[in-house]
Amino acid sequence: MKIIVTGGAGFIGSHTVVDLLENGYEPIVIDDFRNSKPFIIERIKKITNKDFVSYNFDCGDIKKLSSVFLKEKPDAIIHFAADKAVNESVSNPLKYYHNNISTLVNVLSVVNKSKVKSFVFSSSCTVYGVPKKVPVSEFSPIQQAFSPYGFTKQIGEQILSDFAKSNPGVSISLLRYFNPIGAHPSGLIGELPLGVPSNLVPFITQTAIGIRESLIVHGNDYDTTDGTCIRDYIHVLDLARAHVLAFSNYLKKNNKPLILNIGTGKGSSVLEVIESFKKVNKTNLNYTFGPRRDGDAPCVYANSSLAKKVLGWEHKFSLEDALSHAWEWEKQLSIL
Ligand code: UD1
Repeated sequence: MKIIVTGGAGFIGSHTVVDLLENGYEPIVIDDFRNSKPFIIERIKKITNKDFVSYNFDCGDIKKLSSVFLKEKPDAIIHFAADKAVNESVSNPLKYYHNNISTLVNVLSVVNKSKVKSFVFSSSCTVYGVPKKVPVSEFSPIQQAFSPYGFTKQIGEQILSDFAKSNPGVSISLLRYFNPIGAHPSGLIGELPLGVPSNLVPFITQTAIGIRESLIVHGNDYDTTDGTCIRDYIHVLDLARAHVLAFSNYLKKNNKPLILNIGTGKGSSVLEVIESFKKVNKTNLNYTFGPRRDGDAPCVYANSSLAKKVLGWEHKFSLEDALSHAWEWEKQLSIL
């Protein structure tokens, strides 16, 4: 079975390609490496000892996209190709509307003319905004997006709901990720943040290795157990598994998307993440407390029981596993 993975060299994409190869699928990667590096493709081959086809172009190029679809005749698409830096989306919203929305429309126009049976879309728990109740279920209200990035996820979901109505032959899954972290246990692939990371775990690993001087904990006066924000950190390999299970669900055709939360169901505070990181990796970490960051919700974690019920999906890796794997990746990056 042939699966096109757009953004297949990215953080979640590359781990999903590993899972696909290990489970006998034939991934076809399309990536222009704007948020990744070509060596990731070679590393995926090394981890799996398998070969696969990859194309280097922007999915916004509808001509190239159409010719790949014509040539490869894919059965399913996992669409990761998008930008994801919240701050950048505020300073450059058009980039986000272009890369996250126009590109999605392009991909769907090509899917429309193909025999694709299943489409999986990367959504985010950001669609829930600052939730009034936790854990957050798929039925929790969608709230006004705080950033253009968040809004592109909401619009993307709406576009796919409309597309599903007119294309009941394509099964569509929208996976709402909580906080993806970790790396492949081999230390060969992981997250490659551009510039200064805004996400917690890459900032922690870069501080521990000496690239950054100190981590700033954004706020310690929240109404939580230790005053710092609580998030649901999910290992990227568990997230990858959910994608593979989601597109395999294609026999269940429907005229509306299957929407699933993908998280562990366990919330961890920023201080808990710091302490776990130090303990599991036997390393020190400089940090100081700073003011709250605009737009941060005090506490977000998932109810993922629907993913278990529908896909039989459950997370396997712990926070400690993810922090240990992220650290192995960072150490390995430093000797590249
Ligand atoms: C962010 C995005 C979310 C996106 C997700 C992808 C926002 C508002 N949300 O989620 O849309 O889907 O990344 O992973 O940006 N923290 C620090 N110091 C740091 C970095 C982070 O204290 O240097 C804290 C944050 O305040 C937050 C927690 O760590 O409480 C997690 O932050 P982060 O990794 O950026 O993820 P989110 O903000 O939850």
